[in-house]
Amino acid sequence: MSFGDAPGKAILFGEHSVVYDRPAIAVPVRQIRASAKIEDIRGAAPGQVRIVAPQTGVDSWLETCDPGHPLARIVLLTLEELRTKDFPSIKIHITSSIPIAAGLGSGAAVSVAITRAICAHFHAELPLERQSVLAFEVEKLHHGTPSGIDNAVVTYDQPVYFVKGREPEPFHIANPFLLLIGDTGVESPTAEAVSLVRRRWQEDPHRLEALFDAIGDTARSGRAAIESGQTFDLGPLMNHNQSLLEAIGVSSAELNWLIQTARGAGALGAKLSGAGLGGNMIALVDHESVERVEIALRRGGARSVLLTEVAP
Ligand code: PMV
Repeated sequence: MSFGDAPGKAILFGEHSVVYDRPAIAVPVRQIRASAKIEDIRGAAPGQVRIVAPQTGVDSWLETCDPGHPLARIVLLTLEELRTKDFPSIKIHITSSIPIAAGLGSGAAVSVAITRAICAHFHAELPLERQSVLAFEVEKLHHGTPSGIDNAVVTYDQPVYFVKGREPEPFHIANPFLLLIGDTGVESPTAEAVSLVRRRWQEDPHRLEALFDAIGDTARSGRAAIESGQTFDLGPLMNHNQSLLEAIGVSSAELNWLIQTARGAGALGAKLSGAGLGGNMIALVDHESVERVEIALRRGGARSVLLTEVAP
């Protein structure tokens, strides 16, 4: 049996504006993971692949799958990359504790987990950079113009400062800090939010470009605060990033409610994380406020609340 996995992720600063070439910061969320297990299938003709993903109702042979299906695509891309043919038939079993369409990087993590399991099964090494490139190809199926931030952070499994088209930059975290991640329970496919922003940008490019610039500034200042250990500065920056995302139109009543609830219970800052319109929000907390904010989020209707530490 061979195994591969990858973590979820949260975006600390810069979602959406990162699609328009501004910087963003993303962090891995290691408590939630996508996993893939591979075993040989005895008695099947060589080179056959059965893909089983019970959570999304998939149980198909690769050759009968639509090659544009994200699971089929990552399997095909990885086999092609490894130039593997005529191998004993395999079954790939995929599970994930990362909620789907919730802004936590589920699609990218599933892709990377599958690539890693296939590499492990065929005793092949694939550099992180290539793993990320293959997952990026699949991200394009989810919404035509991905920035690449999701595949980068889940592959490198460390906080990254990211600018589209460049190598992700891991950076120094002077003081670890705590984030609570609250789920609105509202599914929000990334493609919808991304195309809403595209329409707004086409209607009023000057306004949107200015908002993107301001969001890019929060990512730059956020990085400086994290590198210098001024973690308390992150809260106001997150709040400012949230008001800019609201001005773009990608927040929602449920997100706003959880964000206000977290701030009211003592969070140092809070914002949506990921594409928005639903999905998850994040709140910066310290050791004094963490329990109060967690309880408030649960009472406020969060479907789940996760605590994660951002550390080197
Ligand atoms: O996949 P999500 O929901 O975490 O959104 C990714 C972040 C976006 O900036 C909205 C899109 C992108 O490709 O960067």
